[in-house]
Amino acid sequence: MAVLSIPSTGQEIKDPAEIKQYLNQRGVFFAQWEASVVFEDTASQEEILEAYRHELEPYMSANGYTTADVISINKLTENYDAVRAKFLSEHTHSEDEVRFFVDGQGLFWFNLDGHDVFNVLCQSGDLISVPAGTKHWFDAGEKNPFVKAIRIFIDTSGWVPEYTHSGIEQKYI
Ligand SMILES: [Fe+2]
Repeated sequence: MAVLSIPSTGQEIKDPAEIKQYLNQRGVFFAQWEASVVFEDTASQEEILEAYRHELEPYMSANGYTTADVISINKLTENYDAVRAKFLSEHTHSEDEVRFFVDGQGLFWFNLDGHDVFNVLCQSGDLISVPAGTKHWFDAGEKNPFVKAIRIFIDTSGWVPEYTHSGIEQKYI
């Protein structure tokens, strides 16, 4: 279950409907899917995608997404510091960044023009779509990362970080 936090005010929102409203008002799509399937660590990408096919297919076809895969980050991930650093600097993408959290958790930070910086802790069952061009960064944590998430794309080539080099994330790490 997600938690939305606004550091400048200390406000924290835990109610899913309120989180959805807050994000939707700012152009960020958020939903929750039933995540009742428990996967073994050895579960394949195909098994995970198949388990969510009934949710994935209608969502993808309604929004023009064509491909999906599964990303897994955990304590066995090689060069984790480098993996973490790649997403930890403020950046944008030329297409939406859509993630469904199957297990584990990660923190999406948003820097929307005209709004206070806020973050959303995404956990099992949370679906979030960061719109193309939105300034954001992502953190799976300094230690003991654990994220298992479905990534949904229009075109995987659009999902390259374009760094803003603002350094704003340093205020929040
Ligand atoms: Fe991103």
